[in-house]
Amino acid sequence: AGTGLLDAHGRVADDLRISLTERCNLRCTYCMPAEGLPLAPDDALMTRSEIARLATLAVRELGVRSIRLTGGEPLLRRDLVEIVGDLAPLDVDLSLTTNAVGLASRAQALADAGLERINISLDTLDPTHAQLLSRRSLLPRVLEGIDAAEAAGLTPIKINAVLMPGVNDGDDAVELLEWCLGRDFELRFIEQMPLDADRTWDHSTFVTAAQVRTLLEERGVALRPHPAPRDGAPAERFDVYAADGTRRGTIGIIASISEPFCADCRRTRLTAEGTVRHCLFARTETDLLGPLRDGAGDAELAELWRTAMWGKPAAHGIDASFVAPERSMSQIGG
Ligand code: GTP
Ligand code: 5AD
Ligand code: SF4
Repeated sequence: AGTGLLDAHGRVADDLRISLTERCNLRCTYCMPAEGLPLAPDDALMTRSEIARLATLAVRELGVRSIRLTGGEPLLRRDLVEIVGDLAPLDVDLSLTTNAVGLASRAQALADAGLERINISLDTLDPTHAQLLSRRSLLPRVLEGIDAAEAAGLTPIKINAVLMPGVNDGDDAVELLEWCLGRDFELRFIEQMPLDADRTWDHSTFVTAAQVRTLLEERGVALRPHPAPRDGAPAERFDVYAADGTRRGTIGIIASISEPFCADCRRTRLTAEGTVRHCLFARTETDLLGPLRDGAGDAELAELWRTAMWGKPAAHGIDASFVAPERSMSQIGG
């Protein structure tokens, strides 16, 4: 194997996120507009075998050690179980981020195909608020999907909650926390990032990590830093303690905006169209799928990927004057 995905600031990306589709069956306000987004034609998307080719290259030639499948909503790929089966033999930590709609019928097949663990987007347990945030009434199906993932052993399960001001940043957050602690899920409170297609993110109103810690403190939830090293992960983890001193579980706070972790970032991304993004907030992408289809060999593709990552910016630089990138979250693959 050659050298890994080093950038000009000394970071090495060994954590690959592959988006499988830009489509989604929800319309979360922080991600997609109500009417959806224009979709690339199907033949512009990586096929199952192209995904396997690039993932294998990333592991064998570029030192990638973990792969997370994302979207859009990855369950909308009909060949998801087969894709997992293709990637399972690679020696990586293989995981999936999903909204869990439709997971009930596929969780066991995914586990059987070699999927190890799963992160699930669930912003609130309040059906009215879930409808408001996702513009769909699919909460019961999400909960069924979570039950199935647990039954299939796709654990530890992490729950992702993006906090939206005035909707799920109060009672909902505490209710979700109690529910996750009861079921042994690791809840992560996520700061909204300016990646929504409607451009509604506001620097002065997004819910910050500090606000989350204050809310939990006010509600008597005691947090202590989790002992495991963070190792470049977006989530800062805390253990939750009861009044009598017993440990109740672990939560994470993902403070991408107010406490950025870019300096330790280990991410590289492939969009569903087979382009490398060096950062969530990248302004440029490097096409690999075109060259692959034109017959490029592994060495050439690896070199294109290395060159793309070398240009990764030191930090996202989001401030009050920030202008969101062209692509929304569903098009990048969270
Ligand atoms: P674990 O391996 O379980 O820690 O997964 P993860 O937290 O990295 O992935 P997940 O897909 O669950 O993402 C959780 C949140 O972290 C989402 O809001 C992501 O958009 C955000 N996130 C993931 N990668 C990055 C990143 O490179 N930069 C920033 N700023 N946020 C990220
Ligand atoms: N800001 C922060 N997180 C987001 N996600 C989607 N859009 C945003 C945003 N604008 C989260 C989803 C999902 C993960 C992949 O990204 O909740 O769990
Ligand atoms: Fe779909 Fe995920 Fe975006 Fe929600 S956050 S609209 S589930 S891609």
